[in-house]
Amino acid sequence: MAYETILVEQRGPVAVLTLNRPKSLNALNRQLITELTRAYDELIAAGATRAVVLTGSGEKAFAAGADISEMKGMSALDAKAFSTLGHTLGARIETAPFPTIAAVNGFALGGGCELALCCDFIYAAEEAKLGQPEVNLGLIPGFGGCTRLVRRVGPAWARELVLAADPIPASEALRIGLVNKTFPRASLLDEANKTATKIAEKGPVAVTLARQVILNTEDLDLARANALEQQAFGLAASSTDSQEGMTAFLEKRPAKFTGK
Ligand code: CAA
Repeated sequence: MAYETILVEQRGPVAVLTLNRPKSLNALNRQLITELTRAYDELIAAGATRAVVLTGSGEKAFAAGADISEMKGMSALDAKAFSTLGHTLGARIETAPFPTIAAVNGFALGGGCELALCCDFIYAAEEAKLGQPEVNLGLIPGFGGCTRLVRRVGPAWARELVLAADPIPASEALRIGLVNKTFPRASLLDEANKTATKIAEKGPVAVTLARQVILNTEDLDLARANALEQQAFGLAASSTDSQEGMTAFLEKRPAKFTGK
């Protein structure tokens, strides 16, 4: 399928998705959000992808936020629908059977930071800056900045990032747990691809189930969360992959997973 605002590159089991509106710092307009959602739908339907790396084109930005020129003048209903579009994309990323690593190569502001937060974890270039500057525009975060950010970094940092609205450097984002690792910009994509490839070599059923448990237990009490883990463990153990994984271990050879 042809896209105008994103690039899709399949590298074996890893798909590299690139936000591609560099002239506007990859600002997220309706078209880009819709195309990215469609790209996920197509990767899911094709069934060959085991991990995604999501990054931005150009030297400067992952994404500098939702497209301000498109948002200006939106009615309440239009703006709500726009927020829903962003949340639909976020849910698609989170519930896909494969994980996504955000490779934040520059500014990840507003909707850009929120998009990165929908990914399983974030690697960032040392020069990157992340933040939620929406209140500078008289807006609030609309793609999960008030909701996912607090779950990732805790209420105190979420409040400071959203209310004082100052972007923080990647080093600070690393310290507060918003970013997992930082790299020189030149090696960021290679490092993200390396980790994505490593994940792609694991048992796909297990990766999918582990992600589901982590996602679906975040807001549960421990007893319910543990019950869900037990069910998923049972499912994982009944897969062909787990039999192959354990047999391969005992036979001292690499496992050949089939995703069954
Ligand atoms: N929307 C639309 N266009 C944007 C944009 C955005 N979010 N961010 C940058 N651009 C455009 C600029 O208008 C500019 O276009 P022109 O060349 O046509 O003038 C181009 O990208 C380059 O940007 P700058 O000249 O501003 O680049 P800079 O290096 O001087 O500054 C920046 C970089 C600090 C990231 C600055 O561009 C900036 O502050 N951008 C806006 C950040 C922002 O407020 N993001 C939140 C958006 S609201 C949101 O995301 C809501 C939500 O949660 C859903």
